[in-house]
Amino acid sequence: MSLPITEIASIKEKVIQLAKKVGDNIEAELKNFTKESIEYKGINDMVSYVDKEAEKEIVKELKILLPGAGFIAEEGTGKEAVDGYNWVIDPLDGTTNFVHGIPIFSVSIALMHKKEILLGVVYDPNRKECFHASKNGGAYLNSTKIQTSKEQKIKNSLIVTGFPYATLENIQPYLKCLEEIMRKTHGIRRLGSAALDLAYVASGRFEAFYETHLNPWDVAAGALIVQEADGMVSDFKCESNYIFGKEIVASCSENVHEAILKIIHDSFLPSK
Ligand code: IPD
Ligand code: CA
Ligand code: CA
Repeated sequence: MSLPITEIASIKEKVIQLAKKVGDNIEAELKNFTKESIEYKGINDMVSYVDKEAEKEIVKELKILLPGAGFIAEEGTGKEAVDGYNWVIDPLDGTTNFVHGIPIFSVSIALMHKKEILLGVVYDPNRKECFHASKNGGAYLNSTKIQTSKEQKIKNSLIVTGFPYATLENIQPYLKCLEEIMRKTHGIRRLGSAALDLAYVASGRFEAFYETHLNPWDVAAGALIVQEADGMVSDFKCESNYIFGKEIVASCSENVHEAILKIIHDSFLPSK
């Protein structure tokens, strides 16, 4: 890591201010937004001027904050990823909620150096909750330090996930997994913002989160926040390819992590 810790802390404070400014503008735009403004990137994959303008504003400011860094941003703003520092940005995580007027969405911004996430900020403008972390610096909700739930037992755990929506071809393993989780836990939720799902694991509201088909901008900031809150994050093989690998499990404890991985494993890879 070549940026000194003090500099990362000061960059994070500026990113928090930026996420709040952009997030509050998104929330304010909710009252003007009409479904005529929806564009489709794919089946059920929506975007609008709100996502695009938010991303442009974020990229414009981050270019000034760290000149030379690359961008991995959902709507493709900014120059491409480079071999050093990269910003990983989801300007509006929860677009489907936003376009339906459901107040559950967030702004997610992370800074990576090569494969390491240095800082992550997830801002929920509807609740004015800003979750943030820097590498080895702990995790926070606004100014309060957060930690994952102390729960060790899957049967006492509340789980959050996201459902695939573009292609439902391989739906059976998901349904099997849902059934097992319903049988073995306190229950399951689908909020519609993966960044907030992770932030809620970090702050002890959920014991675990799992999802497939996510992109780096959905998970980079939230994954660091979970880890800095003493949680565990992995891919479905319990390895570390969860940013680019399109499979993620995040949880509060080793026991809960193992139990979720076993359910996933038994559902997605049933023994013949
Ligand atoms: C989506 C949300 C959702 C998840 C989807 C993501 P978007 O991001 O994070 O919770 O289930 O797979 O694509 O499109 O609203 O930025
Ligand atoms: Ca997203
Ligand atoms: Ca998005």
